[in-house]
Amino acid sequence: MQIIRRKAALRAFTQAWRRAGGTIGVVPTMGALHAGHLSLVEAARAGTDHVIVTLFVNPRQFNNPEDLAKYPRTEESDAEKLAPFGVDVLYIPEPEEIYPGGFATNVSVSGVSDGLCGATRPGHFDGVATVVTKLLLQTDADRAFFGEKDYQQLQVVKRLATDLDLKTEIVGCPTVREGDGLAMSSRNLRLGIGPRETAPVIARVLTGAADIIARGGNVLKALDTASEALLAAGFDSIDYLELRSDPDLQLMTKADRPARLFLAAWLDGVRLIDNLPVSAPRKVETSEDQPLESA
Ligand code: PAF
Repeated sequence: MQIIRRKAALRAFTQAWRRAGGTIGVVPTMGALHAGHLSLVEAARAGTDHVIVTLFVNPRQFNNPEDLAKYPRTEESDAEKLAPFGVDVLYIPEPEEIYPGGFATNVSVSGVSDGLCGATRPGHFDGVATVVTKLLLQTDADRAFFGEKDYQQLQVVKRLATDLDLKTEIVGCPTVREGDGLAMSSRNLRLGIGPRETAPVIARVLTGAADIIARGGNVLKALDTASEALLAAGFDSIDYLELRSDPDLQLMTKADRPARLFLAAWLDGVRLIDNLPVSAPRKVETSEDQPLESA
């Protein structure tokens, strides 16, 4: 695995691969790699000839300077974790390779960016959309792999790739969970021992609410009960707990089309997010559904 910090050096690799007829997959990351990232690398390995992992802690997507300062930087151990996975290039761009002096362009996706994390973290998705556009162009990728844990981000990236005619196919991969159900995230490292034990309540509460809604239960009541359970378990506050249509992320109060539950909640000063699909409600058979007895 080559570690590359300059886009000209990266281009030398991608052009050589192209000349030989190879396809390129990219896994964009901000480092602090865990099994979720490694599952994306495996998907890229299976789906393309050459794999680039990018590692860039993108300041433009942090609306809170403290959050940026606290973001774990673990470059050496990230490189070690990737070593057995057949990655061709780990691209760790110098900041000026992404944001050269005078940089004045912003990629902003409306619609799918508006609610959820877009509403609670102003500017976050502009930062994500801008950096991802640059990384897809710099890596010349045929396919890019993103986790469904950041489901809204996945929809934002799909939208921008379509709207800007990028050639890269955006591939969503399932959320990877710890044994206790907690969705894997670099932020989990910041939880104290007690809060880490509390965190899996998210997956249990979301599964319970998704099940009630799938059986035709009242959506708002299910969400209220879930919020109360989280706060009772020790969560400090909830940024949002909402049912949204899939994939256009419109707010829903009735599960009458494909939908997902989305949650962002604070625990121990750490903001955790998760989401789960909700299947269409099962039709409850009533007496009116019974065939009429012939007289
Ligand atoms: O999901 C992330 O790690 C980041 O948002 C991404 C896609 C690498 C852009 O900085």
